[in-house]
Amino acid sequence: MQNKACVRAHTNIALIKYWGKRDETYFLPMNSSLSLTLDKLYTDTMVSFEEDLAGDVFYLNDELQGEKETQKISAFLDLFRKEKKTTAFARVESHNHVPTAAGLASSASAFAALAGAANRALQLHLDPQTLSTFARRGSGSATRSIYGGFVEWDMGTTSDDSFAIEVDDASWDIGMVIVAVNKKAKEVSSREGMKRTVETSPFYPAWTQAAKKDIVSIKEAIAKKDFIRLGEITEANGMKMHGTMLGAEPPFSYWEPDSIRAINIVKQLRKEGIPCYVTMDAGPNVKVLCRLSQAETIKTALLSCFSADKLIITGPGAGIRELTATERSEYQWNESFEVKGWKK
Ligand code: ADP
Ligand code: DP6
Repeated sequence: MQNKACVRAHTNIALIKYWGKRDETYFLPMNSSLSLTLDKLYTDTMVSFEEDLAGDVFYLNDELQGEKETQKISAFLDLFRKEKKTTAFARVESHNHVPTAAGLASSASAFAALAGAANRALQLHLDPQTLSTFARRGSGSATRSIYGGFVEWDMGTTSDDSFAIEVDDASWDIGMVIVAVNKKAKEVSSREGMKRTVETSPFYPAWTQAAKKDIVSIKEAIAKKDFIRLGEITEANGMKMHGTMLGAEPPFSYWEPDSIRAINIVKQLRKEGIPCYVTMDAGPNVKVLCRLSQAETIKTALLSCFSADKLIITGPGAGIRELTATERSEYQWNESFEVKGWKK
């Protein structure tokens, strides 16, 4: 039986945010969300199930991970083991082409890639919708990274129908300029931040009401390919999410002075007639939604304040897929993947 697979998943940035769970065990969200999958930021993950491994082994960016990180992976792989009715442990090697835990959605690409690789390695043949419900159990935003383009995660009513679908392939001159203000791991994780907000912020009920309206409006804008409306809704929705955190106890914010500098540059560009809009997640980085054809102009404006290594231009990304042999060979795992095997 082929028991290993290597899968790529791209990160996604939410335009209508997921911020809060109604069920923490099953990762059921308080509201539906909608994202854009990104081409340039992704995770490649290899999974190999081996009968004679004594436990799961997890390498991230060539570094063996400790107990806490490995346990997260193990709990996630248990879902797949249960489905396959196997007890075999796995060796997991993952490479992030995105800063880890810095608000650039590494957990989204991470768990979508791991889900895709486990599905293939165990030959479960789960369809993409079902696979997105599995990815969800690793990290909510991973639900959406199974697909490319604009993706909606419907909040659903149960664990089985809270999945994502592709809304549009985003092939109409859509892009993002990412301002990586700070690539360091954040102090308040998205998981902790959204929990605190749900439990303590008086602004939270207003957030869920607004998000429910925003998702309807943004889907209308996408259907009409109305970029300006798309951007306006995106920017406003992100701001509303960040507003909820200021009302939490204790209050918190992911913004840094450089975040505001980036936002001001975007506002100035709009005044000059270039449609571009900001969104931010659980971190200080600013993502500028724009026409891909205008991304270089926007980058040039941002260069007045940020060095080139902090600016990433990306177009829409694709859904998950297996890596080709050439792509696999770019990693150090090549030798072990192809020759050494993964047995103890
Ligand atoms: P981010 O903004 O990067 O999504 P989160 O705090 O939401 O930050 O998620 C980061 C966490 O996701 C990490 O601490 C780790 O547990 C997990 N993670 C990141 N990359 C990987 C990976 N390639 N494979 C497995 N888990 C990963
Ligand atoms: C602000 O998906 O990282 O990026 O489900 O607890 O793993 P968990 O949280 P995560 O939260 C993402 C929050 C966000 C908005 C979004 O991506 O929709």
